[in-house]
Amino acid sequence: MAQVWCLSWRETWAILWPVSHPQSIIEAFRAAGQEQVFAFWDSLSSEQQQNLLAQAQEIDLAEIARLNATLVAQSEGEKGDFSGLIPAPFEPLPQNGGDQNAWNRAREIGENALRAGRVAAFTVAGGQGTRLGYDGPKGTFPVTPLTQKSLFQVFAEKIDATQKRFGAPLHWFIMTSHINHDATEHFFREHDFFGLDSTRVHFFRQGRMPAVDFAGKILLEAPDQIAMSPDGHGGSLRALARSGALELMKNEGVDTISYFQVDNPLVRCVDPEFIGWHLQKQSEMSSKMLPKAYPEEKLGHFCLENGRLVVVEYSDLPMEMQRQRDENGRLRFVAGSIALHVLDRDFVARMAQESSLPFHRADKKIPFVNASGEVVKPEAPNGIKFETFVFDALPFAQNPLVIETSRAEEFAPVKNAQGADSPQTVIEDQLRQWTRWANAAGANIATDETGLPPFSFEVAPSFALDETSFAQSWEKLGSAAKIEAGTVLK
Ligand code: UD1
Repeated sequence: MAQVWCLSWRETWAILWPVSHPQSIIEAFRAAGQEQVFAFWDSLSSEQQQNLLAQAQEIDLAEIARLNATLVAQSEGEKGDFSGLIPAPFEPLPQNGGDQNAWNRAREIGENALRAGRVAAFTVAGGQGTRLGYDGPKGTFPVTPLTQKSLFQVFAEKIDATQKRFGAPLHWFIMTSHINHDATEHFFREHDFFGLDSTRVHFFRQGRMPAVDFAGKILLEAPDQIAMSPDGHGGSLRALARSGALELMKNEGVDTISYFQVDNPLVRCVDPEFIGWHLQKQSEMSSKMLPKAYPEEKLGHFCLENGRLVVVEYSDLPMEMQRQRDENGRLRFVAGSIALHVLDRDFVARMAQESSLPFHRADKKIPFVNASGEVVKPEAPNGIKFETFVFDALPFAQNPLVIETSRAEEFAPVKNAQGADSPQTVIEDQLRQWTRWANAAGANIATDETGLPPFSFEVAPSFALDETSFAQSWEKLGSAAKIEAGTVLK
């Protein structure tokens, strides 16, 4: 790792500024109506007192007061007025009516940018992965059918194959949180960075926010610990700036950031067409959409609000609107966000400075310390976490752009332990993709009606990143090449 940035500015400040005025901090919390944070002060050791004070200093009390007056004061059901929203336009894929020449041009522009070393990969991996029920950073979760590669390994191999294809080394930035930072770094070290140059893999932590109860009181998770949680992937913009990542990019000639989530092994980590569209349209922030499969699908929706591009979450857009159909029977709000973005580096710098992303409220079950100092694990939501979302930067961007991608080729997230978007569906979607590529090259694998082969095999990114590169590698194997149960192509 060339540089490892770990601390948020608030954490750094807390360390640099010796806690020489504990009483003034406690007084500030009292004045803000948050004196419960120091309820156990007198029973704490001096080390515990220092810990608690350091956490307290991370908190912007004025920001919490603002959130209490707005988000906390409204009931969770109040979602605002969505009546003015209309569906956002997007560039369709050539097979769905898009302009093939424009897509070709985009690919060329993107490939040139990659050859020139203008692009960096960026993964947001600070989330807690609660729904999956996996104890560890989500990126360490095994996802491939035979060799059990982790999500991080799949991304590392895709990044490696891309840099080899374009002959220019890539930087890869990974945002962690205080919950999984050490475990993530350890995982990469333990696996020798999956063959990547470790000086080009950079980890940094996102910021955190305190949780409050429904009366706006900051919760303690232990007598000396404030209940703090990651500040949402919108925190990535500030974290990129304060960690020094943007500075490093500037020094290295990188001006374009390819942003993706940690949960989707089909993702094209660095996609020349996407980058090309973004550059060609002089967009500051671009996104990929795919048509929602059904109204209840849990995707954000690309919409226009007063002429500005926005994403409205599945949990916010009234279900009645999610079910609306146009005259052709197609879902009206069809453009689902799969959280893939390309961002202009200077735009990120601007957004980080302005700190203009709004906070969202999430009601959660938050373990807390009661008045007797015992930890209570609530059965129902008892408090609120605050998060910002990266897609809320879209309305601030010049020329924001949405392009279509194919679900089968690019979206198979692992989110739940079972059912939709689970480890099982992710394995099947990878097998379907490799089978499509292989059969297009003439491999002749039998499938069921969903395109699933009767056996497991694997295609490493070093062998193929897409259908075209599969055909090239396959041809090199000669006419005797065969795929059967257990085959691993690499
Ligand atoms: C997310 C999007 C949704 C999109 C869907 C596609 C949000 C609010 N919604 O839903 O619009 O359609 O993905 O799969 O994002 N993360 C951090 N730090 C945080 C919180 C999250 O790095 O503080 C990262 C996670 O590690 C993960 C990603 O952000 O990589 C998404 O977070 P998650 O909470 O799983 O979002 P979804 O509800 O699945």
